[in-house]
Amino acid sequence: VSVTRIGYASLHVSDLASAIAHYTGIVGLRLVGTDDGRAYLQGADNQDHHCLVLNESGRSGLDHLGYKVNDPEDLETVARALRERSLRASRVPAGWLRGQGEALRFTAPSGHDIVLYFHADKIGYAGGMRDPDVVGAVLQGGATHLDHAVLVCERPAEMSAFMSEVLGFYVTEQGVDPAGNGVVIFLTCGHKMHDLAIAPGENGRFHHLAFGLESRHAVIAHTDRLKQRNVPTLELGLTRHGIAGVTTIYFHDPSGNRNEFYHGVYVAAGMGGRVPTVDWNLATSERALFYYEGAVPSAFLSTVT
Ligand SMILES: [Fe+2]
Repeated sequence: VSVTRIGYASLHVSDLASAIAHYTGIVGLRLVGTDDGRAYLQGADNQDHHCLVLNESGRSGLDHLGYKVNDPEDLETVARALRERSLRASRVPAGWLRGQGEALRFTAPSGHDIVLYFHADKIGYAGGMRDPDVVGAVLQGGATHLDHAVLVCERPAEMSAFMSEVLGFYVTEQGVDPAGNGVVIFLTCGHKMHDLAIAPGENGRFHHLAFGLESRHAVIAHTDRLKQRNVPTLELGLTRHGIAGVTTIYFHDPSGNRNEFYHGVYVAAGMGGRVPTVDWNLATSERALFYYEGAVPSAFLSTVT
């Protein structure tokens, strides 16, 4: 099975209008369309119909993550692998979400729903598809793409093994306990540093959704904008992670879902499964998670939706 990348996240929001205002005006996504209490949005550097689906449902949290596969046959391959593990999956007809083909939906061992799909309608890059304007989106600012999601579950190592064995992900970096067991695990399905990270906590909970920006300068400028517009952020402002080395800031949408802006991540080198994992000993390396502060803000761990 070959999952190409994270395709989209489907989030619950308490109020659709304020969520749309946030994800267009603050995050800088394009609003692609709305229907039946849903909105579809996409970043500048992605051709597919959406990277974010907002569902007006009076609450916050993750409905599901969408991962795009390379081949339509992959859906049946995964369905078989799930049956072998006694996990239930259901087929989702094309058009259930606007702009999306037939899909396979299942609940992963972490308690989160995952939707695999092959087809997405094309809306094109923000700069166009013929003689594109490659700096227009940069000058406008805003997220270039949805980069990764971070989920919380009781047994991160078990979820990591599932994603690796069934969907072909591999671990680029991990925070480990003194015995060397993965506690916070970063996995990719392509050449990004991560498409998914898994942290310890209650099954089925959602930690954050990260949007990539074009430069470290863009992260600083967007931090200014978050502060200017009184968007609630993590008690730290702009900071850097040791893991992956990215410049980052966390903030919240009006429903309380955590977002991240970041830049600076490296490209994972080489073929999946052939690149050794970077380990961070969480007991001795205070800089693994927050490099400047050397400590993890308590709200970072305790606030999940
Ligand atoms: Fe992140």
